Amino acid sequence: MSKAIKKIGVLTSGGDSPGMNAAIRSVVRTCAYHNIECVGIYRGYQGMIEGDFKEMGPRSVKNIVHLGGTILKSARSKDFMTAEGRKIAHEHLKNAGIDALVVIGGDGTFTGAEIFNNEFNYPVMGIPGTIDNDIFGTSHTLGYDTALNTVVECIDKIRDTANSHNRLFFVEVMGRDAGHIALNAGIGAGAEEILIPEEDLGLDRLLESLEKSKASGKLSSIVVVSEGDKIGKNVFELKEYVEENLPEYDVRVSVLGHMQRGGSPSCFDRVLASRLGVKAVESLLEGKSNYMVGLLQDKVALTPLEQAIKGSSKIDEELLRVSDIMTT
Ligand code: F6P
Repeated sequence: MSKAIKKIGVLTSGGDSPGMNAAIRSVVRTCAYHNIECVGIYRGYQGMIEGDFKEMGPRSVKNIVHLGGTILKSARSKDFMTAEGRKIAHEHLKNAGIDALVVIGGDGTFTGAEIFNNEFNYPVMGIPGTIDNDIFGTSHTLGYDTALNTVVECIDKIRDTANSHNRLFFVEVMGRDAGHIALNAGIGAGAEEILIPEEDLGLDRLLESLEKSKASGKLSSIVVVSEGDKIGKNVFELKEYVEENLPEYDVRVSVLGHMQRGGSPSCFDRVLASRLGVKAVESLLEGKSNYMVGLLQDKVALTPLEQAIKGSSKIDEELLRVSDIMTT
């Protein structure tokens, strides 16, 4: 392994996700395993600009594998979007003797890392951490599995009350531009209809589907709506629309919101975080840079950051079909 890298910085940036702490732990301990130093950078790129660093050893990350959120805090730094901000950040890294970076976050985080790498030829490695699962080059991002379990648990509870009152619920879930959470949690929780940005169902088909479902004897219904859905109405407008057009429906809305981003990571996310952290550090030590470490066919694999950012993580057509069949 290359001897060039003696100290690695690690940060979390953008929207937090369960499993980020397990990834920080993995990066710190892999550094210790290879006898190199590790520095935690607080509040993502903003902390890099402000020189908010802390040396970390294997014991600084004890008892965090099970914690949601991120002990390093997170931020969406506007200053890092400027050349001046990035120059100051680079100075701080140089002064602290940090030779390479592991950044944990989503596409915004990777975009920042790629620009930084291009400007300063600085070694960077990305770990995908976002509940949205909208990153190309990995079947799973950190926190996605936990978020799915959280959403399914919530919808199971909503279903209880929906059943008791013979009601229709619109449940809005996160996923700024992607329907992965809605589609998978919708299937897992037995939703009657799932609205995602990748496939515009259209208002007419929604009404048709609800009418059909009533006619088939269903007394209560759950419609999962991804926040980025393109049907043209938000969940509250959808409620009004359905009540106007299908007055036999008693409709309620539940927006799950940021609870989806919190909570103790699932075992899957903890193991994934541990694997990706090891690979990120060891890839840097092998002299690789400007990649994201991800999971492809259950193997840890590298994808160039540029592709991870630009490529789209497609919705699985088979899942769409399964979802259609399940609502029969
Ligand atoms: O990208 C993760 C995510 O949770 C999206 O699903 C959501 O649209 C967004 O972040 C919310 O961001 P914020 O916490 O900044 O409001």
